[in-house]
Amino acid sequence: MSAGTDRPVFVVDFGAQYAQLIARRVRELNVYSEIVPHRITADEVRANPPAALILSGGPKSVHVDGAPSLDPEIYDLGIPILGICYGAQLIAQQLGGTVGRGLRGEYGRAKVSRITGSTSTLLDGVVPDEQEVWMSHFDAVTVPPPGFVATASTADAPVAALESPARQIWGVQYHPEVVHTPYGMQVLEQFLHHLAKCPPTWTMGSIIDEQVELVREQVGDSRVICALSGGVDSAVAAALVHRAIGHQLTCVYVDTGLMRLNESDQVVETFKRNMGIELIHITAGPRYFAALAGVTDPEVKRKTIGELFVRIFEENTGGLTDAKYLVQGTLYPDVIESGGHDGTAAVIKSHHNVGGLPEDMTLELVEPLRQLFKDEVRKLGHELGLPDEIVMRQPFPGPGLGVRIIGEVTPERVAILQHADAIVREEIHRAGLERELWQAFAVLADIRSVGVMGDERTYAHPIIIRAVTSDDAMTADWARLPYDLLETMSSRIINEVRGINRVAYDITSKPPGTIEWE
Ligand code: XMP
Repeated sequence: MSAGTDRPVFVVDFGAQYAQLIARRVRELNVYSEIVPHRITADEVRANPPAALILSGGPKSVHVDGAPSLDPEIYDLGIPILGICYGAQLIAQQLGGTVGRGLRGEYGRAKVSRITGSTSTLLDGVVPDEQEVWMSHFDAVTVPPPGFVATASTADAPVAALESPARQIWGVQYHPEVVHTPYGMQVLEQFLHHLAKCPPTWTMGSIIDEQVELVREQVGDSRVICALSGGVDSAVAAALVHRAIGHQLTCVYVDTGLMRLNESDQVVETFKRNMGIELIHITAGPRYFAALAGVTDPEVKRKTIGELFVRIFEENTGGLTDAKYLVQGTLYPDVIESGGHDGTAAVIKSHHNVGGLPEDMTLELVEPLRQLFKDEVRKLGHELGLPDEIVMRQPFPGPGLGVRIIGEVTPERVAILQHADAIVREEIHRAGLERELWQAFAVLADIRSVGVMGDERTYAHPIIIRAVTSDDAMTADWARLPYDLLETMSSRIINEVRGINRVAYDITSKPPGTIEWE
């Protein structure tokens, strides 16, 4: 994977989630970055030399057995290196300095001071002599390696920054990539743009140009198909591929009947009418309801929905005999997770956005978003002219509302849930909270409770509101929504949605809960 003519920055991954955040920050500074495993060898680096290397933080101590380290020859390649936290300690340890153990450690905010009398190409004129930073370490560098100078310290870290401009190696004990380090981005910028001389040329425009070129090269004049799920990733991937090859692309949208209110109209409107993309729109609601009749087990439900999708997809693309390629909205985190960045993993996790595609599919994949993070995909979508309603959309599971209806899925229940869900999202939007939440939606439970409306006793179903904050859906917390907002949602749902007489709010984090209910 290239990034145009400029060489990428390699972020060397020493564990935990540090590398991803660093990689994103580098990209925010318009320099393309890739995450590489710490096992990368000097030969591999030489074969595909990056513009710079950033050694990430990591959860281990450099002193423990089996602590990850860097091929020491890499330090001699003359490629600019910045070590962060664990990365800085590794530089010190591998190049002949000392890393103290069993020191007091620092977690959270700390004050870093420049060491008087030292000059720093990384910090001078970039950060104030005293600055607040975010620390998270136990060990600390106590003596810099020969040829290095210590340029900053804290109360508990005598060498909080070190450098050897002659060797083009710099290190900071603190985390410049986190928002709690106010001058962090300036330090990264100084390293990237000025010390490592990486030009800030990686922009959304350059990504589009590059991918358009690559897609054209890959597919030639073959027909390409893309299954639209209604989600952000497949939408942006389709728009990008359409920009590259126009009418050679045919999109397929299966309306399962389990979509959110007006979602199908929006997809058809955007892709067919506004963008002029060739779209096969299949209304399959009745078939899904027939297949789901009597199904209550969550796993069976998911499987039924997934298998039917595959069948319908095949039926409707069978006529496209000249199709050789399939577009998928695989993102960079999927590639990293499946080990794809290390060049060793053969199988990239297949994307489940659309409920699982045929396993025996002989189509070759086109994955134009493989190098992008989610927030970058959204920016790209905007740049390609997709509307906010599609680009800023919250994640939606492949099986759709089917996994938000506990018990049997029927058209009546879907209609009830669609209505309640639209109210939840509308009120979140009105409160201006959309961007703070990962997801906010309604769930229809398969129980009934007693209520009273007017003079009438009711015996009806509850709606459960689920709203969570999260960075990546791996963990999530229930959102502390304002009481007033909850009240508005509750009274609107009970008054406007027939068949609902109670509203509950789900206050379970993940883990132990999951975000979806099934
Ligand atoms: P859970 O419920 O496992 O969900 O905490 C994590 C995230 O994944 C979404 N999700 C799915 N997305 N196909 C998808 O494309 C699925 O089958 C599926 N199931 C869950 C869910 O909405 C949440 O964002």
